[in-house]
Amino acid sequence: MSGRFPQAWLEELRARADIVQVVSRYVQLTPKGGRYWGLCPFHGEKTASFTVNPQRQMFYCFGCHAGGSAINFVMEIERLEFKDAVKLLAEQMHMDLPEMVDGPNEGVSRSEKERLYEANRQCARFYHAQLWQPQGAQVLSYLRGRGLSDSTLRVFGLGSTPAAWDGATRELLSQGFTQEELIRAGISVMRDGRPVDMFRQRAIFPIIDAQGRVLGFGGRALGDAKPKYLNTGDTPVFNKRLGVFAANLLKKERALPRVILVEGYMDVVSLVQAGVKGVCATLGTALTLEQARLLKRYAPEIWVAYDGDAAGQHAILRALTIFEDEGVHARVLDFPDGMDPDEFVRARGAQAVDALAPVDATSYRMKQEAAQHDLSTQEGRTAYAIACAKFLSRIREPVELENYIQQLMLTTGFTREVLLAQIGRTELIAEDKRSVYRHAARPLQETNDGADTRTTAAEEQLLRLLCEGRLEAGAVTAEDFVTEPRRALAEKLLAGQSPAQILEEIEDEDERARAAGWLGGDSGVSDGQELRAVQDCLRALRGQRARREIERLTQLASGQTGEERRATLQRIQELTKESRTPARKD
Ligand code: UTP
Ligand code: MN
Repeated sequence: MSGRFPQAWLEELRARADIVQVVSRYVQLTPKGGRYWGLCPFHGEKTASFTVNPQRQMFYCFGCHAGGSAINFVMEIERLEFKDAVKLLAEQMHMDLPEMVDGPNEGVSRSEKERLYEANRQCARFYHAQLWQPQGAQVLSYLRGRGLSDSTLRVFGLGSTPAAWDGATRELLSQGFTQEELIRAGISVMRDGRPVDMFRQRAIFPIIDAQGRVLGFGGRALGDAKPKYLNTGDTPVFNKRLGVFAANLLKKERALPRVILVEGYMDVVSLVQAGVKGVCATLGTALTLEQARLLKRYAPEIWVAYDGDAAGQHAILRALTIFEDEGVHARVLDFPDGMDPDEFVRARGAQAVDALAPVDATSYRMKQEAAQHDLSTQEGRTAYAIACAKFLSRIREPVELENYIQQLMLTTGFTREVLLAQIGRTELIAEDKRSVYRHAARPLQETNDGADTRTTAAEEQLLRLLCEGRLEAGAVTAEDFVTEPRRALAEKLLAGQSPAQILEEIEDEDERARAAGWLGGDSGVSDGQELRAVQDCLRALRGQRARREIERLTQLASGQTGEERRATLQRIQELTKESRTPARKD
């Protein structure tokens, strides 16, 4: 469906869909201290750290930091996109769906897409039914020969193409689908002016999304015919870059500790049959950012389990970078002897899969890098250390970094100090050894917003007070905030937006989790103490702002001379004095 929901209608839905009621369908809630508490449905826990705040119409989990509005809750628990979550809520509230407004025209109307989904569904049913017919015998014995049970064939809805070269096309035409629809769905192609089947003499793997819709198909050749796998091309309902194979099964799993991402459809089917949960594959292309984002919803970490060949290893490195860019914790499941997961599980059994220990991304990179260099020469060891320093510089936690430094010291023979200098982390070198390396240090990558803890605490407290609605108008302005994400939140709160609405507008999940933490907490300020609390916060922020300005001016002064420089230095002096003044003057 194209376009957006009209704002007024969404407001109405938000007003009617009380979050306590919405969440209660899934979580048993107990009221305590103005909120409701329950066991978090998004991570396994025994004591309740999941809260629902009826005033702010938002939920927040103190354990896993999931948070947001009622719509966000439905999105996460049902694994739906925004629009589908809204539709589901509207249905529950018995509200009719509105006319959509001025969104980008997606080119294909909703009803047209529905038709294509339906054609795909009927086509999948037809292929599956073929499997049990005499003409499906060859594919059936192929799939059984690959170790698949009849029950697995049913779970995945695997199928067989019919004997005739236009069997599926004729079947669907007879069901009332038009030639045009079949071609748009990628089920049929035109040959000599007539529509014929896209897939022939193949085992069929239907690709089904989290909502159970059939998006397209992968077809495995029975012998050595090329291509080995033929996939539905991009259609109005199928984009290989966006979905994953077996999303429908993934969705059913709750509180998965990890998702295993494999390369092939057969790997998924084989692992799932062996009892491994939470497995999926990309759709015949390399992993995309969109897929990484999608997988993030299903588990706190992803294990990449690609083939053990050179191409597979290269693909693992690329996938690790994509997951890292998306802020997803990823590790690697390395299968021995160049086996793919299907071969491994068939040879060694499911227990052997469970027994495989995933390797963390950095260790994997170090191992791959080691294979690129001759570590028996000083030259090779040096090049290896330089290569490793490039990705080690991205690790912020000193304790985490320390493990790899130790490892690198062993393999390369360099001292800890030299390695830390190469990585650009001389601040981790003991003071008495530091001076030598200080000048070698490269600038640190900026990872936080540059605010000190006092500033952070002050801004968070102001946001909570704003959420609680306990401040007089004008007591705080957005300009009082020093750091960007919090300043923007303050601006929205001051403009009268509700916390729930603000959270809903944040698409990035990590960013929303962070915001939910700020908007979901209690200030703990007792009645009558609000003004004092605000003044404390503002003083802390004023100090930080002054320090930033002093830094900027110091830089400026270093490039100035004469009268200009004198004026700048004087301004610095004033600011220094001001920032030490204890109370706010106005
Ligand atoms: P593989 O060739 O590794 O698949 O390709 P596999 O699962 O091990 O195949 P089997 O075991 O021989 O049946 C991995 C994935 O790459 C895509 C498919 O999505 C496949 O599942 N692929 C592969 C294609 O799209 N086309 C091809 O010709 C080959
Ligand atoms: Mn294989």
